[in-house]
Amino acid sequence: DWNMGSFVDQAIASIRAQVGDKRVLCALSGGIDSSVAAVLVHRAVGDQLTCVFVNHGFLRKGEPEQVVKTFRDGFHMNLVYANVVDRFMGRIAGVTEPEAKRKLIGDEFIRVFETEAAKLGEIDYLVQGTLYPDVIESGTETAAVIKSHHNVGGLPEDMKFSLVEPLRDLFKDEVRLLAKELGLPEDIVWRQPFPGPGLAIRIIGEITEERLNILREADAIVHQEIKNAGLYRKVWQSFAVLPAMKSVGVMGDERTYAYTVGLRIVSSEDGMTADWVRVPYEVLDVISRRIVNEVKDVNRIVYDITSKPPSTIEWE
Ligand code: XMP
Repeated sequence: DWNMGSFVDQAIASIRAQVGDKRVLCALSGGIDSSVAAVLVHRAVGDQLTCVFVNHGFLRKGEPEQVVKTFRDGFHMNLVYANVVDRFMGRIAGVTEPEAKRKLIGDEFIRVFETEAAKLGEIDYLVQGTLYPDVIESGTETAAVIKSHHNVGGLPEDMKFSLVEPLRDLFKDEVRLLAKELGLPEDIVWRQPFPGPGLAIRIIGEITEERLNILREADAIVHQEIKNAGLYRKVWQSFAVLPAMKSVGVMGDERTYAYTVGLRIVSSEDGMTADWVRVPYEVLDVISRRIVNEVKDVNRIVYDITSKPPSTIEWE
């Protein structure tokens, strides 16, 4: 029967056999798949591996710090931290159409990754956190389109690397077990899915630093309170969105005119269909009060009670 310890031993042996004494590159996002793949390859070939982590500026609160702390300080990996927040903010200004945002961020991400890779000199292998369901899916054209749409980390065809894909035989729940076995922190083991373009597709319309900060703070509160309520692992995703609207409110004797924040909390098996979660009113109440009290320029909270279909999970 299947045993995690022997899987790890076999995976390490086969990575060593494939890579030999060559160098390996990995685009690390902090998501579970790329994290587990990177740690496994690091166990196998140590400093022959270099990871590149791109901070495009649309990550959640504390995320870049956590990735650096986990992989550089914790696992002692060679980690290149490409902080390109200013560059992305410059490019994204004025872009409002959802697919245009995705394309711009995806293209720019690849450019940054290529630039960082080029600085490293000769590298032959690229680690990818491909799972078994990705392997079966990629047979069909529709699946390929869905994938390219969903994977900002998707890398250019013409980069001449051979792929190292140590998770190719695994399902998601097995990757979680493996993550624990490899000593990855709980935050990564249980992390909910997060889109490659990040918070950029949760800000409807124009992305400004002000609006990004509002969303990031509101989202951190949703995250904390869903965790406090013991719901974080039970739901598929739970996050905040920032619609392109302001509305009237009142604070003390003052009229306010401020942003609305939307809450999106869904259950799902695979993201293809989803249902809104009947979150207890008390939990919604705490989230609502905290956001309007703690996040400047927000005076209204709404809960998204649509399922997918006809809605999507993300708002863009
Ligand atoms: P939708 O919004 O299409 O989302 O119902 C289904 C799942 O896919 C994720 N998603 C993305 N992931 N890049 C990604 O890597 C994207 O552009 C993207 N758009 C949606 C979404 O978070 C949900 O889990």
